[in-house]
Amino acid sequence: MRFSAAFLDELRARVPISQVVGRAVQWDRRKSNPGRGDFWACCPFHAEKTPSFHVDDRKGYYYCFGCHAKGDHIRFLTDKEGLSFTDAVAELAALAGMALPEPDPAAQKKAQEAATLADIMEMAAGFYENQLAAAAGAAARAYVAGRGLSPEAMERFRLGFAPDRRDALLQHLKRRGVEMALMERAGLVAAPEDGGAPYDRFRNRLMFPIRDRRGRVIAFGGRALGEARAKYLNSPQTELFDKSRVLYNLDLAGQPAFEAGAVIAVEGYMDVIALSEAGLANVVAPLGTALTEQHLHLLWRMAPTPVLCFDGDAAGQRAAERAAELALEHLRPGHSLSFVLLPDGLDPDDFVRENGAAAFQALLNDADGLLDFLWRRLVGQAPRATPEERAALERRALELPRRIADETVRRHYTAEIRARLRALWGRGGYSGRRNGPGGARRRMAAGPVSRQLRARVKAEEAGTFHAREILRLTLGRPDILPDVLEELAGLPMRRGELDRLRRKIIDIAASGAELDSARLRAHLEDAGLRGALERLAGSGGLEQEQVADTQRAKEAFAALAGAIRRTAVLERELMAAQEAFKDNPTDENLARIEAIRREIDAAPGGGDSA
Ligand code: UTP
Ligand code: MN
Repeated sequence: MRFSAAFLDELRARVPISQVVGRAVQWDRRKSNPGRGDFWACCPFHAEKTPSFHVDDRKGYYYCFGCHAKGDHIRFLTDKEGLSFTDAVAELAALAGMALPEPDPAAQKKAQEAATLADIMEMAAGFYENQLAAAAGAAARAYVAGRGLSPEAMERFRLGFAPDRRDALLQHLKRRGVEMALMERAGLVAAPEDGGAPYDRFRNRLMFPIRDRRGRVIAFGGRALGEARAKYLNSPQTELFDKSRVLYNLDLAGQPAFEAGAVIAVEGYMDVIALSEAGLANVVAPLGTALTEQHLHLLWRMAPTPVLCFDGDAAGQRAAERAAELALEHLRPGHSLSFVLLPDGLDPDDFVRENGAAAFQALLNDADGLLDFLWRRLVGQAPRATPEERAALERRALELPRRIADETVRRHYTAEIRARLRALWGRGGYSGRRNGPGGARRRMAAGPVSRQLRARVKAEEAGTFHAREILRLTLGRPDILPDVLEELAGLPMRRGELDRLRRKIIDIAASGAELDSARLRAHLEDAGLRGALERLAGSGGLEQEQVADTQRAKEAFAALAGAIRRTAVLERELMAAQEAFKDNPTDENLARIEAIRREIDAAPGGGDSA
């Protein structure tokens, strides 16, 4: 056997089986209890409608009460995904961030050593914690307290202190029988190249243990307390730690993220701790590196639309742009990202301390969807006064989706971008001044919820467009009112200014007064609706000849009334489709939403031809 039992056990211990199975099934949220490693889904091995497929993280086992399929991580990959045993192990090792052992008997030794490395990291974490509590840690304690961290938070995140001595940890580990070579492999001790005495990597630093998803310490981040070249120093790559595959706080954030159906990614350790302490516990951070593809996949396993928060400075803006580019490439159906750039150069830690958790939540709710974020950057102040400039913008816009690997997502992006371009040209985009649908005027998160919001706004606009037109028509041709009064009264219209106008017009017309346009307007102004009338003014979409006589005006009325009713129906369908997608984020349900949105877009005023 190429792989030792110890290696395979380590793999199974590192990767929860729910993570492996979760790629192929949709968990039943009601029945599952992730806190206890207990998951239910419809069985991927036989067709069923109610979940009888059980996955137990603690036992590392799945079992179907319907078809009796059962096995461990590797069995699932071989049986469900059709991998060979060796490929299944390789896949699992990639998920665990572990290297495959060399094909020789040393494999066993190496796997054992990996366990030993983990033991050393735990010893080091304990040492640093004790130092922070001890006399030597007084200044570090004061610093932490000064930053507003409670003793409970220090304990929960296992903060520690690396003393300002050359070899404090080294001596401590040595006394406990740890070999020098292992300390170096753990990344805790470095040996100078000139052959001098080895020394502690972390000195006079506030220590943040980096835990894997099971809560085991696999690395450290250390914040300088005194003069130091780097503000933060992190553990080097080791057999335990690959920073491109690890997110800080994954272990504590998993359950809250599952419950919220949302996860927040921030830039720094202190940001994670501050948000957690403020009650936003579904928060993680990469470790001083730009977001990687592996990070994205980790985040997407936690929630369909992770919110990435970036510091409100130039570096934050650049990091956000890089993340958006990366995400674009790896998008899959039902997965997206949204973006928050913090205001005033603050980071999440500063912001939540100054403004509180509710204000931070408001930022999250107002996050930009991925496409909105990219769109604003693309369209922004791009010149579009001439056909050539518009062509250039169009070409750049349509390049965006080419980078998307997934064919379905690419298709939907292309459709959406085309619709946005049409809307941009249609809504004064020619001047290059007014905002299109992705403009700063409207900032909404992507993903099921914000998708819903965005679509609702479009539907609303379509409905509003027709409502405005129909009111303009009746104001211009009150002679049709006797014939259309009932229909006007029965039209679905949102509550608000337009509806108030409509009702007043009906009141006035129903009183039997002889009406021409001027008299109707005067009555409406008397009723306090002058402002509403002014906002309604401006060029309408109706051609002069469409309202040239009573008959044609009535026909125009009927057409607009039909459009209002159709939009209302589409809007209701859209809500239903969005509900369905929220419960069951399948490709098919997404396609349904997009189809309805296209229909709304295609209606006059729905974005095409305002
Ligand atoms: P920041 O410089 O934004 O620091 O780095 P911070 O988290 O706000 O820290 P405080 O509030 O000043 O204590 C964000 C993250 O980037 C990584 C660390 O992971 C840090 O948390 N970083 C930063 C490094 O790895 N090295 C550095 O020198 C600086
Ligand atoms: Mn900070």
